[in-house]
Amino acid sequence: MKELPTHTQASVPRRRSSAWTVARRFAALALLGVISLHSTTTTTTHESLLDRVYDAVHQLKWKSTVLSKDPHERALQLMDRQPVIDGHVDLEILSRYYYANDLDAFDLRRETRGQVDFPRMRKGKMGGFFHSVFVPCPEDEGYPSENRSNFTTPTWRVRDTLEQIDTAWLLIDKYNDQFELTLTAREWRKAMRRGKFGGMLGVEGGHQLGSSLSTIRTYFDLGVRYITLTHTCHSALADSCGYVERPSAHDLVAGTPLAPRWNGLSSFGRTAVREMNRLGMMVDLSHTSPKTASDALSHSLAPVIFSHSNARGVHSHSRNIPDSILRRIGSIDSRRKGTFNLSEDGEKGQGWGADTGEVDKPVPSGDVLIMLNFSPTFVSEWSDGSGPRANVSLMADHAEYIGRLAGREHVGIGSDFDGIEDVPEGLEDVSKYPNLIAELLRRGWSDAEVMGLTSGNLLRIVEKVEAVARQHGHDKPSYEVFSGRTDLVKHDKPPI
Ligand SMILES: *[C@@H]1O[C@H](CO)[C@@H](O)[C@H](O)[C@H]1NC(C)=O
Ligand SMILES: *[C@@H]1O[C@H](CO)[C@@H](O)[C@H](O)[C@H]1NC(C)=O
Ligand SMILES: *[C@@H]1O[C@H](CO)[C@@H](O)[C@H](O)[C@H]1NC(C)=O
Ligand SMILES: *[C@@H]1O[C@H](CO)[C@@H](O)[C@H](O)[C@H]1NC(C)=O
Ligand SMILES: [Zn+2]
Repeated sequence: MKELPTHTQASVPRRRSSAWTVARRFAALALLGVISLHSTTTTTTHESLLDRVYDAVHQLKWKSTVLSKDPHERALQLMDRQPVIDGHVDLEILSRYYYANDLDAFDLRRETRGQVDFPRMRKGKMGGFFHSVFVPCPEDEGYPSENRSNFTTPTWRVRDTLEQIDTAWLLIDKYNDQFELTLTAREWRKAMRRGKFGGMLGVEGGHQLGSSLSTIRTYFDLGVRYITLTHTCHSALADSCGYVERPSAHDLVAGTPLAPRWNGLSSFGRTAVREMNRLGMMVDLSHTSPKTASDALSHSLAPVIFSHSNARGVHSHSRNIPDSILRRIGSIDSRRKGTFNLSEDGEKGQGWGADTGEVDKPVPSGDVLIMLNFSPTFVSEWSDGSGPRANVSLMADHAEYIGRLAGREHVGIGSDFDGIEDVPEGLEDVSKYPNLIAELLRRGWSDAEVMGLTSGNLLRIVEKVEAVARQHGHDKPSYEVFSGRTDLVKHDKPPI
């Protein structure tokens, strides 16, 4: 298959003579000195000037960098320019489950018992992450299944989500010399230039909404910028793919998927997606059934994401994305359409959606992002079927595969760190991202392509989602009440 140009063409730097380089470095250092002097006296009114200077220094520093031929060294240099934004980090799970959200009980300035802390984030060239404010499905915490009661089961899922949002805010505030809550792509870029870790929040499941559109709007106001339509349970919005272990290594399809409840996106889910589009809340399709993902691709006006998902064509697991959906995303670029060779694909034209013309369905938003999940269960397994298996090259296989079908401009990173116990060899924690970048450079990815993967692609998507929200800024909010609810109805008489 032909290589296609990417949407994100960063200028590739040329080598410069060493005298010129030294002169530029010197100038950059001098400027930095002026800025640090200036920043001690500046007030917020100077902010935009200061940002422009930071930007100029950043550009200058980049242009004076002579890129190494050594893949690891080069990866570090490229990541200095375009750090990793991880689409799915569960630091707030670490906080809740080990420490009951007592932030005095652990210190992110030292090595934690998890996979995420400042020393390792610096080493791994991180520019921040989406703080997942996840709480488990109702049935996983002893509540009755919401599916069985038509998504009207009273639970504490919304309170618990608010506790996790509060924890994210408290963490960001406690370490405000390191963390910053960045509510737009622009703010995130600015924070990274200043050497800070930006962050937005992500709600990992429709069950955290209490079957209400009001919570979507309120969560947005609290810094949430994506909602995963389901976790491992169905939600009022959509069907989940469940979480199904493969019965044995030799089965092509992983287990028996959950019986569908809505057959994809529910009618309430359609309204919710449009409400999210209006707000600038990203629709996340990790954990959803392929039909839900397909429906959302058709229905969303703004680009959707898979915040932590891999490819079924590499590892057949219900939590991974089928070939037909990857090819559909690839077809956004008309030059890629029609170039697919099914016999080279992992599912060999036998997977979900292969026979329903999935690949020919349009994607009105015109863009999608798939962020690679590091959990070994979704990466591969030992050839003797003895359990999950993951390492740097197997992760790179997923990146390459998704890149081949969907396009490299649609790949990002959503590790699931602090939410997974097992980790890939060579990608044990946030300090190890450069190993993956170096491997992709070794496999021929261009500088621009890996800088897209680290965060360029994600920031492009966030900007497009923001643009759709601006276009729809004057649309009315939806007042729809989920059809199963009997507590929120119009009355003729006053309550007392
Ligand atoms: C969900 O509910 C539907 C209909 O009420 C039922 O057919 C289906 O089996 C249920 N699914 C699960 C996973 O409980
Ligand atoms: C759930 O809703 C379906 C369809 O609206 C209905 O047939 C079913 O009886 C409801 N189940 C419960 C437990 O309310
Ligand atoms: C498709 O891939 C197969 C296996 O690699 C190869 O034999 C075949 O020639 C390819 N077909 C096309 C049209 O490229
Ligand atoms: C990763 O695992 C695969 C499959 O077991 C193996 O072939 C490969 O050599 C491993 N790569 C590294 C870098 O360990
Ligand atoms: Zn997850």
